[in-house]
Amino acid sequence: MEENKLRQLLDSLTWKEKVGQLVQLSGDFFHSEELTVGPKKKLGITQEIIDVVGSVLNVTGAETTRDIQEKYLMNSRHKIPLLFMADIIYGYRTIFPIPLGLGATWNPKLIKEAYEIIAKESRSAGAHVTYAPMVDLVRDARWGRCLESTGEDPQLNAHFAEAMVRGLQKEQNGHLEGIASCVKHFAAYGAAEAGREYNTVDMSERRLRQDYLSGYKSAVDAGAKLVMTSFNTYDGIPVTGNEFLLKDILREEWGFEGVIISDYAAVQELIAHGVAKDEREATLLAMNATNDIDMKTGCYANELEPLINKGEIDPKLVNDAVWRVLKLKNALGLFEDPYRGSTVIQEKENLLTEENRNLARKVAQESLVLLKNADNLLPLKPNHQKILLVGPYGDEQDLIGLWAVHGKSEDVVSIKSALEKILKQDNFSFEQGCGLLSDYQFLGEFGATKEQIGSLKMTETEKKIALKQAVEAGKKADIIIYAMGEHTMQSGEAGSRTDISLPKNQQEFIEQMVELGKKNILISISGRPLTLTKEVEQMDAIIQAWFPGTEGGNALVDILFGKVNPSGRLSMSFPENVGQLPMYYNEFKTGRPLNSSTHRGRFVTKYLDSPNAPLFPFGFGLSYGTVDYDELKLSSERMTTDLEISIRLKNQSPYECLETVQLYIQDVTGSVVRPTKELKKYQKVNLLPKEEKIITFSLDRSDLYYYMKDMRFNTETGDFLVFVGKNSNDTIQASFELI
Ligand code: GLC
Repeated sequence: MEENKLRQLLDSLTWKEKVGQLVQLSGDFFHSEELTVGPKKKLGITQEIIDVVGSVLNVTGAETTRDIQEKYLMNSRHKIPLLFMADIIYGYRTIFPIPLGLGATWNPKLIKEAYEIIAKESRSAGAHVTYAPMVDLVRDARWGRCLESTGEDPQLNAHFAEAMVRGLQKEQNGHLEGIASCVKHFAAYGAAEAGREYNTVDMSERRLRQDYLSGYKSAVDAGAKLVMTSFNTYDGIPVTGNEFLLKDILREEWGFEGVIISDYAAVQELIAHGVAKDEREATLLAMNATNDIDMKTGCYANELEPLINKGEIDPKLVNDAVWRVLKLKNALGLFEDPYRGSTVIQEKENLLTEENRNLARKVAQESLVLLKNADNLLPLKPNHQKILLVGPYGDEQDLIGLWAVHGKSEDVVSIKSALEKILKQDNFSFEQGCGLLSDYQFLGEFGATKEQIGSLKMTETEKKIALKQAVEAGKKADIIIYAMGEHTMQSGEAGSRTDISLPKNQQEFIEQMVELGKKNILISISGRPLTLTKEVEQMDAIIQAWFPGTEGGNALVDILFGKVNPSGRLSMSFPENVGQLPMYYNEFKTGRPLNSSTHRGRFVTKYLDSPNAPLFPFGFGLSYGTVDYDELKLSSERMTTDLEISIRLKNQSPYECLETVQLYIQDVTGSVVRPTKELKKYQKVNLLPKEEKIITFSLDRSDLYYYMKDMRFNTETGDFLVFVGKNSNDTIQASFELI
């Protein structure tokens, strides 16, 4: 629609119709009959508002969305189509690995391809907007939503944020071919104190800008059409009513002209936060902060019009918000085609295709991280050894994680079925061995009934039999593969935990099994870094598999048998124990570093009962090959505008290796304290067997910029260290002077 016509449309709306565009309701408001008693009554939303509402939350499927849209438009005076928005975080029907696994690929280019597929499936299923990517920087593995993040590094997060937005919002001949991206959760939700869900976030503006904003900024710069506010506070003010974040930074400093939508009920939660007395004040706070859409509460629906009529809010704020929503609908072409071509036939053709599965398998292969491989136990040779697969994830298809909302476990290739495809019967056996958990009571909070919870729990007899059968089978095996991990519902939203080791019953099972003295391989399925401290001692090999998605079983078997050489590198540190958290590689220096020359013994930054170091550091991952790094060279010892840095890689192995060469810097002296290391460059490099390559990086002066004492984003002259290597710990060091 021409913009002038769109403006005329805006001007022709009543205030109620305008308010309607700023309200988002869930699907049950549109196709369930018992609205009077159910959600409508609960939210106090009138039918008048439902008839003019602007968008729908988490309804997908060509048939359903078409049906709702058709009925809605029939009653619509101005024929303004509904926007269908949904949580499509790392896959619609073809589910890729969780984003913490995507981060471990260090391959934004590949992830952009994945998100193009996600957009294609989603669009054909009637989705117009996805609440993705989630780009919250994470440093605390107790927080369940690490699952949705690409990790702890500002720059890596920024690269993935851009890749995901560009993949989702793929342009074709100047038109939006994909779906609109709603980047979330703005801002710094990942810094919830104590890793406790929905808890306070408080930090300096310097830390906010230096570490936490990069992902959102990158997404906005990549053209994300929406931003979702986060539940947390920043500097004592909840983000959904925080003018500094939403107006000053997002809109004015970054020039974001898209739609800001609150997270679920976050407008009304301003009351619970204690910054609004009632829904009227909550509405005022949120609208004055330029939050455009109120997700799933009655605040805007019931309070905005009275505020306008009483002259208690600037009508321009509301008109501007409605204008942004109408422009979004126009950018999606909804006025010309409210269904964006989504049909049941097209949906069937586009979902879960072989091409999509193949890409999901490739991404999963690159997401898997080999954490240990003693005596090069891996890769295995098919049918050379007797293999026993044990553990609750062995024959489990639920490998897609909590936020795979529209994925189906029955599409998933389990580890067992993938193994059965390449191993002969007399070389392979499977025994469950133990349950996923010993107690499922917590599922009650997610709506599970007592009966469902009861059915999940193994009886004492069942436990004894399962263990006995596993031990008996283990005696006949040469190698035991343990498919273990945390329950899907133990991570993701509302999944904060203070004990992030493997479930106790699984640990007890492992203790019994390793007594057999066989070769042991752990596959860890989790939505976060787990403290695998005990397992590192017990296992000969460990693969961190995340929730690997629809093709997870196949990808794991590809790695186990060497069809693919593992190349994943951690994008989030794995702690030795939960007491070390929050933990991140790019920590500041302190006045009493561990290796202090001026202080001895206990009087340095350390614990009495734990190392400072992570179990596995940021950037860590093993390969089946051995690649040596040497000959680090700088084009000069002094840098003015740029510096060339090179390093030689030599593949000493018979394997083709995909190495992620990482370059870090340290600003030795700044006007404020600087991190011990900061990732600045990385390259994924393929090395043929015995191949040698010189890898070069170009460091620009702007790569050294940071928020200095006066908050200017720049740098000061002085000494810098540069580190190049295969992870944040294992590097070769050099230095240069910035002049
Ligand atoms: C949830 C999540 C958010 C999600 C939204 C809509 O509470 O915080 O990530 O997109 O509600 O489901």
